[in-house]
Amino acid sequence: MDENASSEAALPFRTTLRDGRRVVLRQIRAQDKAGLLAAFHRLSNDSRYTRFMASMRELPDAMLESATHPVAGREFALVAVAGDGEAATIVGGARYAAGPGSDTCEFAVTVADDWHGVGLAKCLMQSLIGVARAAGYRNMEGFVLASNTSMRGLARKLGFVDTVCPDDGTLHVVTLGLAGVPGPA
Ligand SMILES: CC(C)(COP(=O)(O)OP(=O)(O)OC[C@H]1O[C@@H](n2cnc3c(N)ncnc32)[C@H](O)[C@@H]1OP(=O)(O)O)[C@@H](O)C(=O)NCCC(=O)NCCS
Repeated sequence: MDENASSEAALPFRTTLRDGRRVVLRQIRAQDKAGLLAAFHRLSNDSRYTRFMASMRELPDAMLESATHPVAGREFALVAVAGDGEAATIVGGARYAAGPGSDTCEFAVTVADDWHGVGLAKCLMQSLIGVARAAGYRNMEGFVLASNTSMRGLARKLGFVDTVCPDDGTLHVVTLGLAGVPGPA
């Protein structure tokens, strides 16, 4: 898949959220390890559980390393950063990953608890979808807990189709076709 997709999808991207707070969406960097770890530690237990589908007290080094070093051509990650210089803080992130040669990528998105409900996940997902489409992926999918009404609501709003996982009723898979015209936003 196309490795220059982020520039086609116009990143970095500066935006003002519904409550007036401003963020910059940009591609993740190797130097983001400390910022990402701090963001993980600020997450509530509920948010960690719905993101990782497990109780995570710590972010294992291997996960932090791979999160900050996406595999070119089949993984992509972006972060939302609030504030400048020393005060810059990661307040959200979204990523996709695909198996070698696959035309389907799987997404994940997380927003800091005190930034929920102001449209940040929607912005992150719209950018991620733009990057995946520019990279040539034909489908994006995500696995979401059935109880995760906010993620399922957001996915539906973005045009994803929501179905129960056949082998696990506690999980839903949300799927978006990326080929052809851009979906609703
Ligand atoms: C799920 C999550 C990413 C949503 O982030 P958010 O920034 O609060 O979401 P947004 O403010 O962008 O909401 C976008 C849309 O989702 C929908 N939505 C949000 N909360 C909702 C709810 N409780 N019920 C139904 N729809 C909801 C709304 O349609 C909203 O659209 P609007 O902004 O036009 O009103 C956030 O709660 C989170 O980080 N949770 C923990 C991690 C996680 O569960 N990730 C998903 C699994 S990969």
